[in-house]
Amino acid sequence: MKNVFRIFSVIGFVVASTFFFVMCKTSGKESDIKISNKPYNIIKSETYNSAAVVSAHYLASTIGKDIIQKGGNAIDAAIAIQFALAVTYPIAGNIGGGGFMIYRSKDGLYDALDFRESAPALAHKDMYLDAEKNVIPQISLLGHLACGIPGSVDGMVKAFDKYSKLKDWKALVQPSIDLAENGFNVTAGQAKALNKRRKVFLEVNDKPIAFVKEDLWKEGDIMLQPELAKTFQLIMEKGRAGFYEGDVADYIVNELKSNGGIISHDDLKNYSAIWREPIVSDYRGYEIVSMPPPSSGGIALTQLLGSIEGYDLKAMGFRSPEVIHLMVEAERRVYADRSKHLGDSDFYNVPIDVLMQDEYNKERMSDFNPMKASNSEDVQASNLQESEETTHFSIIDDEGNAVSLTTTINTGYGSKVVVDGAGFILNNEMDDFSSKPGVPNYFGLVGNEANAIEPGKRMLSSMTPTIVAKDDKVKIVVGTPGGSTIITSVFQTIVNIIDFGMNANDATQSCRFHHQWLPDKIQIENDCLPKSTIVSLQKLGHEVISRGSIGKVETILINDTGTIEAAADFRGDDSVSGF
Ligand code: DON
Repeated sequence: MKNVFRIFSVIGFVVASTFFFVMCKTSGKESDIKISNKPYNIIKSETYNSAAVVSAHYLASTIGKDIIQKGGNAIDAAIAIQFALAVTYPIAGNIGGGGFMIYRSKDGLYDALDFRESAPALAHKDMYLDAEKNVIPQISLLGHLACGIPGSVDGMVKAFDKYSKLKDWKALVQPSIDLAENGFNVTAGQAKALNKRRKVFLEVNDKPIAFVKEDLWKEGDIMLQPELAKTFQLIMEKGRAGFYEGDVADYIVNELKSNGGIISHDDLKNYSAIWREPIVSDYRGYEIVSMPPPSSGGIALTQLLGSIEGYDLKAMGFRSPEVIHLMVEAERRVYADRSKHLGDSDFYNVPIDVLMQDEYNKERMSDFNPMKASNSEDVQASNLQESEETTHFSIIDDEGNAVSLTTTINTGYGSKVVVDGAGFILNNEMDDFSSKPGVPNYFGLVGNEANAIEPGKRMLSSMTPTIVAKDDKVKIVVGTPGGSTIITSVFQTIVNIIDFGMNANDATQSCRFHHQWLPDKIQIENDCLPKSTIVSLQKLGHEVISRGSIGKVETILINDTGTIEAAADFRGDDSVSGF
């Protein structure tokens, strides 16, 4: 059956490509040839009447939309998408990692699901330090010691148990079995990303893996993942136990133990996703709902919005040096606080209430000088008394329930470890802990005791899945990957919509900038700002550096008329679907 499907897919692709090639040749338009003969269908922006899904892969978006059309709600769609991305978007989609979900029911009830990875029982504070207490390079990022205990499968099971409308687990897992078994066409971007990691995949894995083939990947090649299909079959039949116990647990423990990893059967059995109180704040009359610790996202977003609320950004001008300076100075202060005060609140007393106070954030901005950049050395975390790939998807269903979910294995293809026998990639999320106070992690973030490694503790995240409501109705569903830049990308997208009145697509595609306290630089996407703006920022005392793209934002915006704008970031293969 598998081979028959494969042959048909290949024949289909060849026939379609030839047809489009002939058509385009006839019309003689070079650009048509490039666009039309793609064996996949990416839609960047669309307006729908009933429901919308935006994710990093068009097949996952389509599956989510299909689930809603078959009577599922946003949670059912989220589960099916999470699993479909584990097949079609292995650079970040996963069952070997974790994530966070913000849910808003049609009646305005909020919930937050933490399915972040946690540190194994044998993990300890100094596990990435050598005898001289220096951080051993790469060890928290690459290979078998870099993995936290995966949370995604338990997270999806908990979401299903509490909120599924379809109540048909099998219907949510089956599409991923089909995709893994029958294959899908890789995009040009995926072929490039896989080829880039070919060498490191071969270094880390001594058995054949689905992500490396004999020759290099090309656009349109079919990726088959038979071992992953078997893993999904077990998850479909046994739910949580199909992953955390039995064959798959054995495969994980064998893979890790025989290569210096430390995750045990007990670690897997004891892992539990947690329902938490979301972080809720107000910005200009909009209700902002986002993720609490162990993500820093919700608190930092609240702090950023609170820091700029006293200013009329619209009057200052979109992307004017004044607005960028203001937002960057807020970011500098908030990231300084993050480095000291944020960590897993089940292990460390995070001063959430203080950090969320309007007065506190106004006070933090009291030394803001519109004419001069601060210096990060002078901006320290306040003294209070008490990585590169991830993926996000946004959903609104036809009843008005919404899901904002960000999930990750940390950097692209995580630890690069593919579990032999089970066919999925394990995360390298342990790098999100602070291996040593003050030593930057992959994303240049520094941390302290609040985010030190402890058994069972969750590493601090920047993931910021967010839902914005107005007048008791969902207004915006938004989130993005991008490591430390996640918070500032969500911040800018919300400001683009609320302060500058942009539509979903403009707010999403608009270029981005970022400051994270240390390093003390404004990072700006290449070709984002005119030279004159950069010179103005430099005159204020900022160091400005250009960099590649920041984030892949997935935005849903519900207009006052009730129509739904869905926008997928042009920076990736991200695609919308809906009806
Ligand atoms: O949880 C975090 O903050 C990081 N592990 C996210 C990594 C990420 O976004 C990589 N993507 N570009």
